[in-house]
Amino acid sequence: MQDELKFFNELVSKLLIKEQQEPVVNPLPTTSVISDLNLGFQDEGMGEEEWKKLVEDAVMHTPRTATKLFFNQLYGGRQPKAVLGDLLAVLLNNSMYTYKVAGPQAGIEKTIISKACSLVGYESGDGTMPPGGSMSNFMALVMARDAAVESTRNKGVTNQMTLYTSSASHYSTPKNAAFAGIGRDNVRYINTNDKGEMDVTHLAQKIEEDLQNGCTPFYVNATAGTTVLGAFDDIAAIADICEKYKLWLHVDGAYCGGVIFSEKYKHLVNGMERSDSFSFNAHKMLGTPLSCSIIVTKHKELLTKSFSNDAEYLYQTDADDFDLGKTSIQCGRRNDALKFWTLWKSVGNKGLEKLVDNQFYLADVAREYVQNHPDYTLYSFPDSISICFNYKNIPAKTLCTALYEDATAMVGYGQFGQDEFVRLVTINANNSKEEILKFFEVLETGALSLQANS
Ligand SMILES: Cc1ncc(COP(=O)(O)O)c(C=O)c1O
Repeated sequence: MQDELKFFNELVSKLLIKEQQEPVVNPLPTTSVISDLNLGFQDEGMGEEEWKKLVEDAVMHTPRTATKLFFNQLYGGRQPKAVLGDLLAVLLNNSMYTYKVAGPQAGIEKTIISKACSLVGYESGDGTMPPGGSMSNFMALVMARDAAVESTRNKGVTNQMTLYTSSASHYSTPKNAAFAGIGRDNVRYINTNDKGEMDVTHLAQKIEEDLQNGCTPFYVNATAGTTVLGAFDDIAAIADICEKYKLWLHVDGAYCGGVIFSEKYKHLVNGMERSDSFSFNAHKMLGTPLSCSIIVTKHKELLTKSFSNDAEYLYQTDADDFDLGKTSIQCGRRNDALKFWTLWKSVGNKGLEKLVDNQFYLADVAREYVQNHPDYTLYSFPDSISICFNYKNIPAKTLCTALYEDATAMVGYGQFGQDEFVRLVTINANNSKEEILKFFEVLETGALSLQANS
């Protein structure tokens, strides 16, 4: 292992320098990436030096998501303490299903879950760390399904169950509806206002319609940070409706649920304590490496009912509450807790708050820039870390693709209603105001050369 660690250190040192010099890599064409980097397998293994060269090539050609010019997705940057935690998790290689195998790592995960419950406002909840926000949403849906129709766990779905989510919500909801046996056709898409927030009147209408048609409404998904506009649904207003019709309320905070750490921004999820479950991705706003998703619920017993199963070959000590396999979706499960804990312990609650607040600050910087420059059109609103805009009426797809192909910046585009626009996500809390302004400079230079070449 010592040799590999030495190589790892050398390689990472080179990568960190490269990230500074060339924040964006030249993309390799899909038609030749496998042959260009010799990714295929041979019968014989390869010599050490040749192997090192090959690994280095693959690493150096990989898109750089931790740099100052990566804005393409809803994560970015690098928190060194969290990276170290993840490296240690790989090295320790515990599986999180039992206390016997995970030991203190199970205690670490339980501590995170317990603190998340108290931040959300669940007095005696529980939770787990699924492999991503989509799976957190899936677990919420399964708990809601089983709670609504008790027999489902054993007999499967027998009646037409309907669920509600806004048209701006994440695509995992219809996928999950299919996985859970509810069916994609039973997902009702609720209109949004022009800010991308769920229209609560429309929600009530849709529920009434379904009741009149003999369906069983059971679940509403509210979003804290929609994927494109970064909008926050009005949780308190949605909770009123869920309480009236006795529906499970899940808050999908995969993108921006991290606001629970911020005194200044947690008002965006007001009413969250009235929800039945709440999820957030620490690998988004909280800067932890992928994946690090947390779901908590106020119904501890329902989490166990939906996800536990006897398995004598697995549960062999009397550790119950520390046998985390009894509340998780997987059997063998990687340790996603340690990286979040190493970061959190190091910076404290206040450090996590600073990460979140800085993202909103950077978003204000970007929004202000767009608003003050007449060549730009702005599509997004305050209290969002997605800054959506167009520049000089250049189609967003054309501009983003040109920046990617020229290896000048990684930024994506999105759509809301009829509008398609560039979506700048200020989620890398390591960025400064200057770096956000630099992004616009890079974009404008890219647009100039695009226009010159067309
Ligand atoms: C609102 C929302 N929910 C869920 C997800 C899915 O999270 P994951 O990519 O971790 O599965 C995303 C991802 O961007 C999201 O924006």
